[in-house]
Amino acid sequence: MANLTRDFFIALSNSEFLNENARKWGFRLGAEKFVAGTDIYAAAKKVRELNQHGITVTLDNLGEFVYDREEAIEAKNQILNVIEQIHELELDSHISVKLTQIGLDIDKDFCLENMRDIVAKANENHIFVNIDMEKFVHYQPTLDLLKELRKEYKNVGTVLQTYLYRTEEDLKELKDVRLRIVKGAYKESEDVAYQTKEEIDANFIKVVKERLQGEAFTSIATHDHHIINQVKKYVEENNINKDKFEFQMLYGFRTEMQYALAEEGYRFCTYIPFGNDWFGYFMRRLAERPQNMNLVLKDTFYT
Ligand code: FDA
Repeated sequence: MANLTRDFFIALSNSEFLNENARKWGFRLGAEKFVAGTDIYAAAKKVRELNQHGITVTLDNLGEFVYDREEAIEAKNQILNVIEQIHELELDSHISVKLTQIGLDIDKDFCLENMRDIVAKANENHIFVNIDMEKFVHYQPTLDLLKELRKEYKNVGTVLQTYLYRTEEDLKELKDVRLRIVKGAYKESEDVAYQTKEEIDANFIKVVKERLQGEAFTSIATHDHHIINQVKKYVEENNINKDKFEFQMLYGFRTEMQYALAEEGYRFCTYIPFGNDWFGYFMRRLAERPQNMNLVLKDTFYT
């Protein structure tokens, strides 16, 4: 049953029709609990609140399913504006970008050019750029683009998903790159990905431990307290410097735990999505945690 519910919401997240229409609806279904507004100014308020509690942020100007060059350039310009605003408003924030938003499905070289502009501008402003990892079909192209970008810039990194069998191997190749480790949010086949929570969690712990033995910075992105507790224990027992890693969670999830971890002295970063393109992101969050459906029902029937 849990798998069926997950598959249902992932299928909705993949619907171009619904994503397209949701852009016109404005926020619905309780999405504002997880998406911090439709523009950078609304998001900046949330960034400030978190910064005041010693929490840093990664901002995601939401967007996916872009198959048109003009739209991809518009998305790139919006991201350049986000970088400018981070600098001008002196926000403690880096940015997260999805390559499909800036043309990966149109043409790889075109996407690379857009990404170069983004990383160059971020570099001028000492801002890190994280490339979110999307579906497996985009996995290798994402690593290829990252490799190209890193020939010129060091302020760019990506995400590894521990549901993929090949993560452990890619870890070696990316040992000098700042990485975010996640379980993985998409539906992937058993040809490429572990299917059970036990296997995915075990791989998560294995990958994180390996990263913490290396030098590069790691973002440990999970809401799973079992994993967080295991990491804390490992760090303590192995005398690992707390500056080598941070915990990350999504905006609107386990907010009290986010503050508590920061208060305990761990580096903490909240992923804040904003913008009109909220539908796919929101459906993936429902896929992970159907309990969030309560919010949808409340929003639909009680308002
Ligand atoms: P999971 O959903 O497996 O939950 C495990 C357990 O934790 C639950 O059984 C429950 O006990 C507890 N729990 C979880 N959420 C809770 C809540 N809200 N309240 C109470 N208890 C809760 N994916 C991807 O493919 N590419 C990407 O680039 C990213 N980026 C990303 C950034 C950040 C900051 C995060 C946190 C996540 C991502 N993800 C992602 C999504 C990620 O792959 C994954 O789908 C989700 O984080 C869900 O898995 P969790 O590890 O959080 O716990």
